[in-house]
Amino acid sequence: MSLSSATTGGLTAGDALRVSSSDELVQMDELIVEQEAIMMVRTKESQRMREEAQSVLAGGVASSWQDAPPCAVWISHGKGSRIWDVDGFEYSDFHGGFGVGLAGHAHPAIVEAVQDRVTKATHFAQPTEDAIVVARELSKRFGLPLWRYNNSGTESTMDAFHLMRAATGRNKVIKVEGSYHGHHDAAQVSVYPSAEEAGSAAQPNSVPASTGIPNSMAQLTVIVPFGDLEAVELALAKHKGEIAGMILEPIMMNIGMIPPPAGYLADLKTLLHKHGAWLTFDEVKTGFGVAPGGATELLGVSPDLLCTAKAMAGGLPCGAIGGIPELMGLIADRTYEQVGTFNGNPLTMAAVRAMTQDVLTPDAYAHLDRLREAQVAGCEAVLKRYDLPGFVRAFGAKGAVIFTDRLENYRDFLNYDDQWGNVHWLYQHNGGVFLPPWGKCEQWTMSVQHTMDDVNRFVRNFETFASALRGGAAA
Ligand SMILES: Cc1ncc(COP(=O)(O)O)c(C=O)c1O
Repeated sequence: MSLSSATTGGLTAGDALRVSSSDELVQMDELIVEQEAIMMVRTKESQRMREEAQSVLAGGVASSWQDAPPCAVWISHGKGSRIWDVDGFEYSDFHGGFGVGLAGHAHPAIVEAVQDRVTKATHFAQPTEDAIVVARELSKRFGLPLWRYNNSGTESTMDAFHLMRAATGRNKVIKVEGSYHGHHDAAQVSVYPSAEEAGSAAQPNSVPASTGIPNSMAQLTVIVPFGDLEAVELALAKHKGEIAGMILEPIMMNIGMIPPPAGYLADLKTLLHKHGAWLTFDEVKTGFGVAPGGATELLGVSPDLLCTAKAMAGGLPCGAIGGIPELMGLIADRTYEQVGTFNGNPLTMAAVRAMTQDVLTPDAYAHLDRLREAQVAGCEAVLKRYDLPGFVRAFGAKGAVIFTDRLENYRDFLNYDDQWGNVHWLYQHNGGVFLPPWGKCEQWTMSVQHTMDDVNRFVRNFETFASALRGGAAA
C-alpha cells in the first residue's frame, strides 16, 4: 500500500496545511505536531513492536540511532528502490540504511552472489579467492595499492588511528570538529559538542562525545575546524612532534554536506607531511557514493590511508582500509596487528565482488547522475518558487537540502535551525519517502534501482512541505 493512496486514520498530509498569510512562514512547531500525529496514526504496528521489544532490547531498538521522534519505524522488507514498514506502507528509500543502499534492495547480482556463496559455506577465518579480487577492485577505484578488511566504518577508522600512531610513534591525531568517524574512543570526540562545550572556533576544545569516553583519551584527539589550514598549522605547532596524522571526511557528510575549499585537501597533505604526519580520508560515506573512486577520485587528492565501509558490500556488513606501502607495510611486517575474526568473510567478499564488478558499473553511475540532476533541479525550483531559504548540495548518489544560507563548518551547523530538517523529514516520511532522521545532519542516498518515479515523489513531497510552510499557498 502506498501512502499517497492510503488513508491515515482520517488525516492526510493535505489536511495538515494551515492557511495563513502566504508571505509569512507557518510556525514549524505547529507543523511538527500535525505531522507527528499523522505518523503516529499510520505506524501502530511499529509502536506495538517497539513496546514488545522493550523487555528484551535495550531501549526497544537494535541501535540507538534507529530511534527518532516520534517513533522508531519497523521495516518488513524491501525490493528495488522501495521498502515496506510493518504497517504495510511503502516508501521510496532515500535513507539507504544510513548511506549503505547504493545497490537498492534485493539487487539480483547481490542476491545471486550471496546465494551462490552461502551454499559453499560462509566462514573459515581463512582467506578466500574473492579477497584478492576485491582488493584489486578497491586498488583500481581508489588508487591505493594495499588493502585489509574489517566489518564496519568504526573498525576502519580505528585501524587508521592505530596505523598512523604505529608509523610515527606519536599518540595524537587531528580530527575535524563535527565529524563522525564511528564509536571507538579516539573518534568519539567533538562529534556534536554544544556551543558552551566547544570553546573557541579557531582552536576548539576536545569534548568527549559520549559517556564512557575518558577525558584523558579525548585529549589525544586534537580538534580543528573544517577547511581551515591555518588551524591545522596552529595545532601542529602547539602539539609539536606529537601529531601522528589527521583524519577527515574529504566531503563532510554528518553535518549536512560540506565540500572542502579549493586546494584545501592537497595543501593539507603537504602540510601534514612537512610535520612528519599522515593523512587519512574517511570515505565510509563518500566512498563509492560520490564517484566510483569516492571523493579521492572526485576531488583528485590521494590520501595516505583511506577508510571505507557502508555501501561496499551491497547491504552486508563490511569495512576496508587501504593505503600506501609505508603505512600498510606495517601490517605486512606485523608491526601493527590488524585482526578480526570476520575480516574478509567469504559471504561479504562475494557481495563486494558483485557490488564492484556488476552493480556499480559506469552505466549505473550515469543513471545516478541523471537522477541526481533531476532531484536537485526539482528541489531548487521549489525553494525558488516558495522563496524559502537554503540551497541544495549533491554529489553522486548523495545530496541534501540545506535550509540556511551558509554551511561551511561545524559552527555554521550549530547556528542552523534544526526544525527545518525535522519538518521536511516528517513531510517526506508521511508522503512515502524514507529519509534518514535528524534532517540537518544527514543526506539522501539514491540507489542504482531508483527511477524518476522516486525522484518525482521526493520533489512532490518537497513541494507539499514548502506549500505548508507558506500556509498552503499554491505556487
Ligand atoms: C563518515 C563515517 N565514518 C564512520 C562511520 C562509522 O561507520 P559504522 O557505523 O559502520 O561503524 C560512519 C557512520 O555513519 C560515518 O558516517
